[in-house]
Amino acid sequence: MYNNILTSNENGILTITINRESKLNALNIETLQEIKQAVTGAQTDATVTGIILTGAGPKAFAAGADISEFVNFDVKQSTKMSADGHEVMNTIERSAKVIIAAVNGFALGGGCELAMACHLRVASDNAKFGQPEVNLGVPPGYGGTQRLIQLVGKSKAIELLLTADAIGANEALEYGLVNYVTPLDDLLPRCCEILNKTATKSPMAIKAVINCINGYFQDGKDGFKTEIKEFGESFGTADFKEGTDAFLNKRKAAFQR
Ligand code: COA
Repeated sequence: MYNNILTSNENGILTITINRESKLNALNIETLQEIKQAVTGAQTDATVTGIILTGAGPKAFAAGADISEFVNFDVKQSTKMSADGHEVMNTIERSAKVIIAAVNGFALGGGCELAMACHLRVASDNAKFGQPEVNLGVPPGYGGTQRLIQLVGKSKAIELLLTADAIGANEALEYGLVNYVTPLDDLLPRCCEILNKTATKSPMAIKAVINCINGYFQDGKDGFKTEIKEFGESFGTADFKEGTDAFLNKRKAAFQR
């Protein structure tokens, strides 16, 4: 069904693996579209409780957009490439199902941007992050200039973007670019542990929280107003009835998907 990614659903956790190991999982346009398709499909798949996005092999999450593909693009093609890439990143960021990037090696350029679009990032201790685009004569084109600032602040973001320096997993942790660092063997289990926890929470409330957080950053949206709306509407949901009833009756909530 897909040419560039693998998907597997184990116990409700959908793992999307970028499967271009010989090219260090470089993101050609088709790969990005396949990721978008898999994430979009998961939104209406009741069996999916959470999503892991990772790269095949022990060396790379994704070493950037596929340079060999865009090298001959003209301005029109590169503008479309960027706009389409933004759509993919927005689809991930706005997913109602929690998405964790399991960063198993290089996350450079578009790879770093892809990881940053996910809700959380867990890195293996061999991971390397960077935005090396200025080496190629371009700025980042998949939201990197914006999301890096959001995650690490302007001071470090501007340094990383202007120097093209790659940083290791522990430095990424120190800057707040990743949530956790683990040995490579523990990477996917750690992600599953987090998703198994979020899977016990109200899916409607998870979706609302993601909407509110995105409201803080989204152009033309007001995060505070989004929160008032989401909070108000949550009172009309089955999850609210179940969550509050469970609390008052001293039992564990069992939310429907
Ligand atoms: N686009 C296309 N192909 C890429 C790629 C990318 N972003 N990153 C790696 N590859 C390919 C290499 O061309 C090579 O293919 P080949 O075996 O057919 O020649 C293969 O993946 C292995 O990469 P290689 O460079 O030999 O591995 P390395 O361990 O020596 O170096 C990196 C690893 C990540 C430092 C190096 O591959 C690199 O700098 N990649 C580009 C990073 C980048 O600039 N990304 C931003 C793009 S906008």
